[in-house]
Amino acid sequence: LDSYAIIGNPVSHSKSPLIHTAFAQQTSQAMQYVALLAPLDGFQATVQDFRQRDGKGLNVTVPFKLEAYQLATRLTERASIAQAVNTLKFENGEILGDNTDGIGLVRDIECNLGIAIAGKRVLLMGAGGAAQGVILPLLQRQPALLAIANRTPEKAAALRKQFSTYGNIAAGDFMFFTDEHFDIIINATSASLHNTMPELHSSVFTHTLLAYDMMYQHEPTPFLKFARQHGAQQIADGIGMLVEQAAESFFLWREIRPQTESVIMMLKSKRH
Ligand code: ATR
Repeated sequence: LDSYAIIGNPVSHSKSPLIHTAFAQQTSQAMQYVALLAPLDGFQATVQDFRQRDGKGLNVTVPFKLEAYQLATRLTERASIAQAVNTLKFENGEILGDNTDGIGLVRDIECNLGIAIAGKRVLLMGAGGAAQGVILPLLQRQPALLAIANRTPEKAAALRKQFSTYGNIAAGDFMFFTDEHFDIIINATSASLHNTMPELHSSVFTHTLLAYDMMYQHEPTPFLKFARQHGAQQIADGIGMLVEQAAESFFLWREIRPQTESVIMMLKSKRH
């Protein structure tokens, strides 16, 4: 049985084993997928041990995405630009590092939620690792503007500089965008983890088609509640992104693309 896992710390809450086991069943792949806890100072040793036991690939979650980027002996272009790795594939003695988070977000917005990004004004909130990983895939869909807002505006400005050759980017703090409107607003800050939201002015949601929180909880995050109250037509959390990034990793490993819709439905139904 080919062996895969999600490696992280903590990792026991992860939905990835459920998702990949569903994909494997659906596509009749002989494989197993488990959760693998690595000590905070033992990422590399845990990966090498897994490889020696003939593991074929890993998903990587908090806090190891940067270490995985450094451990990879070869990188896909999207991992190299994101400077973070969420998928490792072991083949021919090499460690291939990929990043499927950004394409997962874009597929969820376009294919599942039905909103084309091309030509839209997009606001990305946050400038940490989660935001950085989705900037290039968003720009590749050719939005009219990608505005990056962050509590610490210098970090948003640095990202604008880094990605300026790929599209039209603006950067500032949350107040900087108070008088503007956005079609798509994405929360990539970790504020939802603390059950709070960035100080974004309510007027930016007036013409918003979609407010998207990359986090997911049992109930809508403070950001999604606020967005809905102030005019966002549609709200979505990160469950769809989670399943889509998993599908892209599965494709990298198995060269078969699983159906995602039934798996997203299953996860959503388990929440109630
Ligand atoms: P991640 O990998 O989840 O992106 P990170 O790299 O630590 O984690 O980045 C966290 C992001 O959430 C940052 O953009 C951070 O803003 P700062 O750069 O100003 O620190 C943002 N963030 C966290 N808590 C927040 C809050 N309560 N309000 C607004 N932004 C917050």
